Amino acid sequence: MEARVQHQDEYRAQNVLERCVCAGCGAHLDCTVGLATIGGLCTVCGGTTAVPLDRRGGASSSRRFALASASEIGMLGESGYRGIVLDRLAKQAAEILELDGSCIYARDQHDSTMSIVVAAHGPAEGSVGRRLNTSCEPAPSVRSRRAAMRLQWDGEVQGSLTVSAKADAREFKPQELAVLRSLAVAAGAALAHAYERPAVSGDIRDPIGKLATSLADLDARTAEHSRDVVKLACKIGEAAGFSRAALTELAVAALLHDVGKVRVPGSILGKRGPLTESEREVMAQHPGFGAEALTPVAGLEVVAILVRYHHEQWDGSGYPDGLYGRRIPRASRIIAASDAYSAMTSDRPYRDAMSHERALAELWACAGSQFDPEVVAHLEDVLARKVPA
Ligand SMILES: [Fe+2]
Repeated sequence: MEARVQHQDEYRAQNVLERCVCAGCGAHLDCTVGLATIGGLCTVCGGTTAVPLDRRGGASSSRRFALASASEIGMLGESGYRGIVLDRLAKQAAEILELDGSCIYARDQHDSTMSIVVAAHGPAEGSVGRRLNTSCEPAPSVRSRRAAMRLQWDGEVQGSLTVSAKADAREFKPQELAVLRSLAVAAGAALAHAYERPAVSGDIRDPIGKLATSLADLDARTAEHSRDVVKLACKIGEAAGFSRAALTELAVAALLHDVGKVRVPGSILGKRGPLTESEREVMAQHPGFGAEALTPVAGLEVVAILVRYHHEQWDGSGYPDGLYGRRIPRASRIIAASDAYSAMTSDRPYRDAMSHERALAELWACAGSQFDPEVVAHLEDVLARKVPA
């Protein structure tokens, strides 16, 4: 099942004022439903405003799902990491867009006017499990301060991802809309996987192992390099105080960060000497290819986001989305620095390995432009524990 979101332009065309419901207090508010503005707080309780789900996906649907209570939402998760992946996605969405809150809504199977908050980050966290009346009515013109993306598959709207800020309303930049769309693809996949749970139960290590094997089949050296990146990245994650869930995501993303290279032609991957511009463009697609490979795997939706952003740079000059600073997921920043250090200190056919000192000097030379200085400092600290000065 492929989760899709509506194209930004289509969504813009439907940017209309509708009656919404606050996820925090249940108050009905007049909101602009679309992507022209980013969100703000409910004027009644200060919570995140809800987005009414599209009525067009409504009563005719036979594939809508029911989540009648918080306990049923708990059943989405069972135990372990897969149970919190929607929460992790909500957190990522707010952090990557530097916003104060986010919500993931699911449509109620039995009542098209109702939706359920299945995950939230920020002010609406206490609203998870609430059923909201999301019927849409014409409303007077009021400017809204939040953004939403529909989560849809099989041609139907199944939920939405919303983000909101405490700051005044502002226009979303096209780049930010593209990022939100990518996040909604991952959120839609996670929601779809949650509903499919009984049909796709299985050990998440199986698909991880298969993807890692595909990387090893491509190039044994790349696979070995990835394992080195895992070790270093996890030490940095621990030093940075990562939670258990964040460390799990970091480890898997570090292992599979280059899995998208399996779609890059061997003539480019194995080329000795500099790549042409068109070859570089193909190579630069590998983070996106990796995310596309990981998003359909239940439990790896957040990992897909981390992999997508492992070539972003602190100053915004990286790819694919030009994220900058703390908008780049911290795990992706750690993988970027660990990846570079591991590559520099490994032998290559065309050069000998650099010394630890020289590689560290290179990282510091690029700290603040390519790399997060805080991550480089952590990297230096964790390596100092085993590498004598
Ligand atoms: Fe890469």
